[in-house]
Amino acid sequence: MPERAHKIFRIQTLNQISPLGLKLFAPNRYIVGNDVTEPDAILVRSHNMLQMDIPSSVKAIGRAGAGTNNVPVKDMNLRGVPVFNAPGANANAVKELVLAGLLMASRNLIPAIRFTENLKGDDAALNKLAEDGKKQFAGIELPRRTLGIIGLGAIGRLVADAAIRLGMKVMGYDPNITVDAAWNLSSEVKRAESLEDLLRNSEFVTLHVPLLDTTRRLINHERVQHMKKDAILLNFSRDGIIDENAVLEGIESGKIKYYVCDFPSQRLQHHPGVITLPHLGASTLEAEENCAVMVVNQMIDHLENGNIVNA
Ligand code: MLT
Repeated sequence: MPERAHKIFRIQTLNQISPLGLKLFAPNRYIVGNDVTEPDAILVRSHNMLQMDIPSSVKAIGRAGAGTNNVPVKDMNLRGVPVFNAPGANANAVKELVLAGLLMASRNLIPAIRFTENLKGDDAALNKLAEDGKKQFAGIELPRRTLGIIGLGAIGRLVADAAIRLGMKVMGYDPNITVDAAWNLSSEVKRAESLEDLLRNSEFVTLHVPLLDTTRRLINHERVQHMKKDAILLNFSRDGIIDENAVLEGIESGKIKYYVCDFPSQRLQHHPGVITLPHLGASTLEAEENCAVMVVNQMIDHLENGNIVNA
């Protein structure tokens, strides 16, 4: 036995953090629970910690995901407490859901499913009514259409690769990649001259930037005006990256055909042009395991050896 079960973790939203990661905490060295006092570290997934009183005993925070906007990172930095996250660990899961969103919108799947569910009558009547649906919900195909990707981190790059394989043209813009050398993406990704250039040229626009002061309401009234008519806007990042009023106005004026996003929204979710999901991007068995294992390993390395290695 060590002198002290020396690492005590408070785990929040325990059920959303993969047991595979939790098993890395050797039971004779760690007490893991959501009711421990004076924890050495906090492991969190989606719980909003911004207003939380974080005990002075805490020496590390682990966020089992890519974004850290639910953690008071600046305050923790001032206290010398590292915040570990898991960049890239759930990128494939998010990419797959983005592709589902793209197809849901391009083929009008959500209204088409609702329409079919509401059809009533015998087989002959149903077939006749289905003819109306065929006309009403005709969609568009992806090859040769342009997907504008805002944010070319781990997720944006995987989305770019998948879209190219589907025959799409891809245009990229990243407000955080300013160094030319960092643009060594596939030669098939065209670098947009500006955000407006990307919006003007894309039938589909997908957002993959983190929520920062510089990206908050990146898609505002003015930028919506630059979009193509009937554009499809996908947001699998954070809701704060768009201005809801601007997007709503964009849908109502016919600029935006669909807004597909991975968050519920009191204002938008009942609108027929909006498809919302309950933040499902990273919710796969594999992504949950990858995130938990990556972040727990970093935390243990810090608590045991004092290392600060983020991914
Ligand atoms: C992320 O930032 O990677 C996601 O929000 C992960 C999650 O769903 O917890």
